[in-house]
Amino acid sequence: MYKKLMTCLESVKKKIDFKPEVALVLGSGLGDFADGIQIEQTIDYSEIEGFPVSTVKGHKGRFVFGYVENTPVVIMQGRVHYYEGYTMSDVVLPTRLMGMLGAKKILLTNAAGGCNPAYKPGDFMMITDHITTAVPSPLIGPNIEELGVRFPDMSEVYSKRLRDVIRKCAAECGIELQEGVYVQFTGPSYETPAEIRLAQNWGADAVGMSTACEAMAARHMGMEICGISCITNMAAGLSKEALDHKEVQETADRVAKSFKELVTKVIVNM
Ligand code: 6GU
Repeated sequence: MYKKLMTCLESVKKKIDFKPEVALVLGSGLGDFADGIQIEQTIDYSEIEGFPVSTVKGHKGRFVFGYVENTPVVIMQGRVHYYEGYTMSDVVLPTRLMGMLGAKKILLTNAAGGCNPAYKPGDFMMITDHITTAVPSPLIGPNIEELGVRFPDMSEVYSKRLRDVIRKCAAECGIELQEGVYVQFTGPSYETPAEIRLAQNWGADAVGMSTACEAMAARHMGMEICGISCITNMAAGLSKEALDHKEVQETADRVAKSFKELVTKVIVNM
């Protein structure tokens, strides 16, 4: 795995000489953010030797290098999901790559289902912690000693410092902010109402099919992490309607402007 990472790293470094400070992962429907920044260069995942390539609609699948105000960033516009058939170590490869390019801080975003009944579609939830019990760990397999230790501590995955930054930024933008725990399931089906009751009993506030594995891999390699979920719909059993990807997209579109404002402010201040 380390060899594969080094192959990708060298392939990227041949195309661009850029040291990002912050890495940003854009969730489903939130990808437009990258088009509004000062772009230096983009690299399609398919151009990178050995890189896992995404297939889902609404995911462009490229790295965008550029500046958010004066902060050099690398953005994943489109991510790789476990349900597409990749191994968990391939799923987190792009995240690790961004860390190896020099990004010491990462902001993870996603579209998620609300399982906290107090939430409503369109809310933003700052991720305070996560549950990965329902998916295999991306750290399974020989440990990559070059990146981190065999048994990494996960007692503060989402940095307290960055959580304070997000809270402050949301307040300055006048954006109401929920705070809660994100649970990752494999997908691609949405959860059943019984599975959502399970998630609630586990202490989860939002459910999704990404992010927690990336946070785990980023933490393993010592990155400072924060995350924001866009609650695009209520999880099964919490609303009368059946779940579909169209609602996810529509809600993400509806809040795109405030998402952009919040993410910009967080990046500049993290
Ligand atoms: Cl309800 N579940 C999962 N796993 N992912 C989601 C979702 C629900 N809503 C948006 N993404």
